[in-house]
Amino acid sequence: MVYLTRREHFNAAHRLHNANWSPEKNEEVFGRCANKNWHGHNYDIWVTVKGEPHPDTGFIMNAKELSLLIKREVVERFDHMNLNMDVPFFTDMQPSTENFVKVIWKLLEPHIRECRLHSIKLQETENIYCEYFGE
Ligand code: NI
Repeated sequence: MVYLTRREHFNAAHRLHNANWSPEKNEEVFGRCANKNWHGHNYDIWVTVKGEPHPDTGFIMNAKELSLLIKREVVERFDHMNLNMDVPFFTDMQPSTENFVKVIWKLLEPHIRECRLHSIKLQETENIYCEYFGE
């Protein structure tokens, strides 16, 4: 089994906030991420697919096609958006990196046919990233 990873990049704004909580509780749990005037992240995304190299191409999937798929389904949808306000996925769900990797999996997985989606890795800051393997 061979694993192929393609990296892409986008920027988006968000705010972590629970409307059922007091301002104090939001501040306690989310800290600066609860800032009511939003904040942005430079997201790096790594999408890994797995399979066996095809005898004709030596590829498990054309990396250019994987790039175009990520751009179409992820980058064009989220780049320069306010995740809370512009993206229906996050109307009733915190736009955390944990939830975001699951949303991205659902967007990409149905389009990967010649091999299988293995993981989504989404880096929110230099020191924090989430990975999702579809479980
Ligand atoms: Ni944040």
